[in-house]
Amino acid sequence: MDYVIQPTALTGGTVCVPGDKSISHRALILGAIANGQTEIEGFLAGEDCRSTLAALRSLGVSIDHVVGGTVRVDGVGMSGLGEPGESLDFGNSGTGMRLFAGLLCGQRFDSTLSGDKSLSERPMQRIIEPLSLMGASIDSDNGRPPLLVHGGHKLVGIHYSLPVASAQVKSAILLAGLYAKGETVVLEPAVTRDHTERMLKLMGATIESGDGRIRIQATGQLNATIIKVPGDLSSAAFLILAALIAKDAEIVIRSVGVNPTRTGAIEILREMGGDISVESPQLMSQEPVADIRVRSSALHGIAVDSSLVSLAIDEFPVLFVAAAVAKGTTRFSGIGELRVKESDRITVMAEGLRQMGISIDESEDGAEIHGGELTGGTVDSYGDHRVAMAFAVAATVAKAALRVRNTDAVDTSFPGFTAVLGSLGANLSTQRADRK
Ligand code: S3P
Repeated sequence: MDYVIQPTALTGGTVCVPGDKSISHRALILGAIANGQTEIEGFLAGEDCRSTLAALRSLGVSIDHVVGGTVRVDGVGMSGLGEPGESLDFGNSGTGMRLFAGLLCGQRFDSTLSGDKSLSERPMQRIIEPLSLMGASIDSDNGRPPLLVHGGHKLVGIHYSLPVASAQVKSAILLAGLYAKGETVVLEPAVTRDHTERMLKLMGATIESGDGRIRIQATGQLNATIIKVPGDLSSAAFLILAALIAKDAEIVIRSVGVNPTRTGAIEILREMGGDISVESPQLMSQEPVADIRVRSSALHGIAVDSSLVSLAIDEFPVLFVAAAVAKGTTRFSGIGELRVKESDRITVMAEGLRQMGISIDESEDGAEIHGGELTGGTVDSYGDHRVAMAFAVAATVAKAALRVRNTDAVDTSFPGFTAVLGSLGANLSTQRADRK
């Protein structure tokens, strides 16, 4: 499907966004190997987490998905997973594949992990290397999926310095560490999202973190619990952007996760002049949660501090659009990881924004965006959910209608996106793809 968006003045309102994708994946996985029934409230029923759910069912876990967002997982215990009868298909989800590689390399049986076209091109050597050092045996297609994870290998703890800041790699190692003899220590070059660590603590694992170092011991038992999943800040980011660039709007997004390892984009947008306040903070299942209020603001260009990159890793499509409408030039550096996300997000965003009349200088791991006025026309999201939503929001302030191609993947992270944006006043319709 394509989106067709007419320029409209956003009015604003109070909305919610679907549950956090990273936390939903982890709640399913840890619930599956816990003892007892884990109840997950506010689960994100997007395609990526559905792939994780299906994979766990193939491994013999009974999971009940109640309409309205609650999921009940009957944990099978640390050694209760069973051999899957088929290849586990993770669709578009890098998180799913990488976390499962960590989970499965310490099991007694073999598993095959595959994915869609985009996932099949994403780098897996970054997990194969540390897991192999732990004693795992994983075959791949030259470091790309599909992965054949051989079971029956005894794992040992390692001390490992991550070459790239990646919560997915860190989490894969920690999951393997649950099954490894001795202590596993992971050192991070920059802080990345710590949902795995928080949830493991909540469920009783022996894990400590501090000073960029996470230590975990083999765990005999995780305890089932109730996990309340907050709204996904990475989905809220599109609505934050929509309100900021609107002429005169104010929105409130309720119960959004504001874990400090995720809030880099809020810091960056505030530095660009964005009026964003975080209200009524509370802790839910060990995760900070708050309401976010946003008012339209005149944004200006900045040099984005590269130490914030890992804290805003999924928000660069949003930040690129903010830079495109800001006054002056915005400089991004140290963002090379964006080239290996669901698409090459530097190239794909630059292509679309250029088609919308914006001038961008691109380098291997950076971009310089010169703010201007957005025109309408046609852009392609190349099947990347976050790129599609970023362009849809950009279009609300364009001079003419915009068609965004290949938007089906939005369902991987933000089912109901068009309805939520529409409720804030945007004029967006979905149309069958027309041929170029
Ligand atoms: C995620 C980690 C990030 C992020 C992805 C979700 C996770 O990837 O881009 O959308 O849930 O651990 P990296 O840690 O590989 O950067």
